[in-house]
Amino acid sequence: MSAMIEVSGLDKTFGGVHAIEGLSFTVDEGQVYSVIGPNGAGKTTLFNLITGFYTPTRGDIRLNGEDVVGLDPNRLAQRGMCRTFQQMQVCMNMTALENVMLGRHLKLRGNLLSSVLRLPSLRQQERDCRDRARALMEFVGCGDYVDADAASLSYGVLKRLEIARALAAEPRILLLDEPAAGLNGTETAQLDELIRKVAEQGVTVMLVEHDMKLVMGISDRLLVINYGRKLAEGTPDEVRNNPDVIAAYLGN
Ligand SMILES: Nc1ncnc2c1ncn2[C@@H]1O[C@H](COP(=O)(O)OP(=O)(O)OP(=O)(O)O)[C@@H](O)[C@H]1O
Ligand SMILES: [Mg+2]
Repeated sequence: MSAMIEVSGLDKTFGGVHAIEGLSFTVDEGQVYSVIGPNGAGKTTLFNLITGFYTPTRGDIRLNGEDVVGLDPNRLAQRGMCRTFQQMQVCMNMTALENVMLGRHLKLRGNLLSSVLRLPSLRQQERDCRDRARALMEFVGCGDYVDADAASLSYGVLKRLEIARALAAEPRILLLDEPAAGLNGTETAQLDELIRKVAEQGVTVMLVEHDMKLVMGISDRLLVINYGRKLAEGTPDEVRNNPDVIAAYLGN
């Protein structure tokens, strides 16, 4: 199995706050790899570092063996890395479908000239984009809402719409920051199924999530962080039985 993400000696400080400290781990291709830890542990900061929203203070991040420190989020998306946000980022003045098409444009922008030259017309390209977005909405279980205004959709549907938008850029790795936050039991079960379907397509998934039932059931491996540092790493069973984890996190 080859490494999709390799993080070594990663540090991020904000003024005096050491948000990430000496973090090293590897995510293999095809895995569902979760990051857990208490509020403020540094999980979102870690995602922001990996996806190019923040620049590390120190350390190395590799995507498919290539050093990607300093690359911006768009460039990383073109290299196959996409994410969703802890705070929802849906354009409420657009339809559901248009939101998903936005994610597709992220990919197309990189090679707009070549796609214009290759495709018969821009109109054809637009149609392909629309068809693909429609198919993705079906895939995430939002097929009934294609033409709905985003503002009219329930929270659970919007969360899945965000995943469809991220998938529209055809990522090889997808990072999800608390996708189950605010979802009820039924919606969480649907999300669980969706993440499994994404992984079955061969997309590597990194997941930050507080819902332990979801995380323990779905993850191949887990990284537990506390105060920005690695507390434990391993399979769900290894992590569940780790005394440091029980003391610091799962026990309370
Ligand atoms: N842009 C920033 N500027 C200053 N401090 C920041 C910034 N981003 C994060 N931090 C700090 O870094 C630490 C880690 O925050 P982070 O949001 O990564 O935690 P988290 O594990 O995602 O928490 P939660 O579970 O609540 O989402 C916190 O102390 C936070 O205040
Ligand atoms: Mg967070």
